[in-house]
Amino acid sequence: MRYNSTSRRAFLKTSAIAASTLALRSPSALAQSTQADAHIEILPGEPIATIAPELYSHFIEHLGGVIYDGVWVGENSKIANENGIRKSFIDTMRAVQAPVLRWPGGCFADSYDWHDGIGPAAKRPARTGFWGQQDNNRYGLHEFMHTCRAIGCKPYLAANLRTLPARDFYQLVEYCNAPSGNVPSNSAAPAVPNTLAAERAANGDPAPFNVDYWGVGNESWGCGGNLTPEEYAAMYRRFTAWLPTYNHEPLKLIAVGPNGDDVDWTTRLAKSLSDNPEHRNLWGLSVHYYTSGSPTKFAAGDALKYNDADFYDLLTRASIMERVVTDHYKAIGNAGSSHPVKLVVDEWGAWYGKGTELAPQYNLSQQSTMRDALLTGITLDIFQRHADKVAMANVAQSINCIHSLMLAEGDKFTVTPTFHVFKMYLPHRGAQAIRANFTAPDIANPLANAPIPAGGNSYMGSLPPVKTLAGLSGSASIATTGNGKFLTLSVVNPHIDRPLTTEIAIQGATIASATGTVLVSADVHNHNTFDHPNAVKPAPATVAQPTAGRLLHTFPAASVTTLQLTLA
Ligand code: AHR
Repeated sequence: MRYNSTSRRAFLKTSAIAASTLALRSPSALAQSTQADAHIEILPGEPIATIAPELYSHFIEHLGGVIYDGVWVGENSKIANENGIRKSFIDTMRAVQAPVLRWPGGCFADSYDWHDGIGPAAKRPARTGFWGQQDNNRYGLHEFMHTCRAIGCKPYLAANLRTLPARDFYQLVEYCNAPSGNVPSNSAAPAVPNTLAAERAANGDPAPFNVDYWGVGNESWGCGGNLTPEEYAAMYRRFTAWLPTYNHEPLKLIAVGPNGDDVDWTTRLAKSLSDNPEHRNLWGLSVHYYTSGSPTKFAAGDALKYNDADFYDLLTRASIMERVVTDHYKAIGNAGSSHPVKLVVDEWGAWYGKGTELAPQYNLSQQSTMRDALLTGITLDIFQRHADKVAMANVAQSINCIHSLMLAEGDKFTVTPTFHVFKMYLPHRGAQAIRANFTAPDIANPLANAPIPAGGNSYMGSLPPVKTLAGLSGSASIATTGNGKFLTLSVVNPHIDRPLTTEIAIQGATIASATGTVLVSADVHNHNTFDHPNAVKPAPATVAQPTAGRLLHTFPAASVTTLQLTLA
């Protein structure tokens, strides 16, 4: 989209309002450079929370080519592997320091029997899985744990609430977490080895898996049982009334939360759970929010063919994640609680229709362009700006699926632009999120004429059309190292053809030096393919040296940038 006189006028108006707003703030670090199109004022005196590394977590499901061929190629494959697990998958997950991996679903989880995936591979049953696939169960619980071990991440399991009894849930916990050898007995009975732990050992893993994160069902409002919030609350209480813990940390139980902005689900669930105070160890509320490639239909639109209006509309609807997070956090009813329940956004990403899948059997695989990289940056920045509310987030899904970091087919492999954004944001992890004010010309959403469905495949509720997209957005964090204070600023410029020269200032501090990395491409449709895996990749940003403690930096059109600032 070319800038017309209206948007230019709107920009000047926005800038003028911003300038006067900032002028009222005292003391302002910004001097309103006349050269600047936009301003970022970082406020180290306004900490938000520590950025949990878990905000960068992952998700894999038995679906299309995610597990088979994506993660699992088999020990005898010619494709490089570690005990059957694709080596390039492990290496890439290590490169982004994946903290947590969720499995086995998704919708698949609520028809999966974990017993099918343990024991000698040749004896495992073949079953029809949720997505219509035939699954020989070659990849099961132990293979998943070995995957986590190879990556160096924590496992996050989803219990089957729809088709298995509560007993299978607590026995799965027992199978995973009971210590080997004699288990101390809290009774006059002698300590004896636990039978499920012995079975685990016989299946190759004497040491317990020590799984902390447990999803209690998945999308129970939909594929997980079509339940009402009240029905689900009753199920949640029954499945979690007792679970073995083995003096390990309390289990981190994650209840099924809403689809998108379905606040009614969260409000009613919170009420039903608190009607009976015995909802022990509720650690997180799962939230799923997908951005459809189409403004009017879920899981539609083309991953590669889109015009400027589609581009801006998708990013505008992705930005609704901010409202999703704040609405649900408010609706949980944490007020007055000494153990606030945080959000676990364990499925997010852009979900397109058919057309760019690797091959028909790679169900839900799709291509990923610079547009998706921008969506990734916008989303991760939202999580960081709300680091006090979001405890974990899992992109859906890591490989060969909706918003993937990797695509693989046989011996062909590539990372997507989304992978690069995950990598660029690494310095934020574990740092203190701090507030930052972004002042830039807004972008009018050209397609803001239809209400937005409350959530991906939601059946209820809608949000009013969202008319504007922030012209520049991002997040800031500060870490103290042996060499002093170190600030990371990530910034997304979503304007398709407009670089934004931006004045960056830090309240109460001066910028001593700056370096940066930028992800940008000549065309927003650009993406990586098996033949051109480096078509889109980051490069060092051209960063000027600060003047009088401030930085004037130009964020290229349609780019994601991370800047590392050292403070004087
Ligand atoms: O990620 C694909 C599917 O999307 C998951 O299985 C389900 O939880 C969601 O509807």
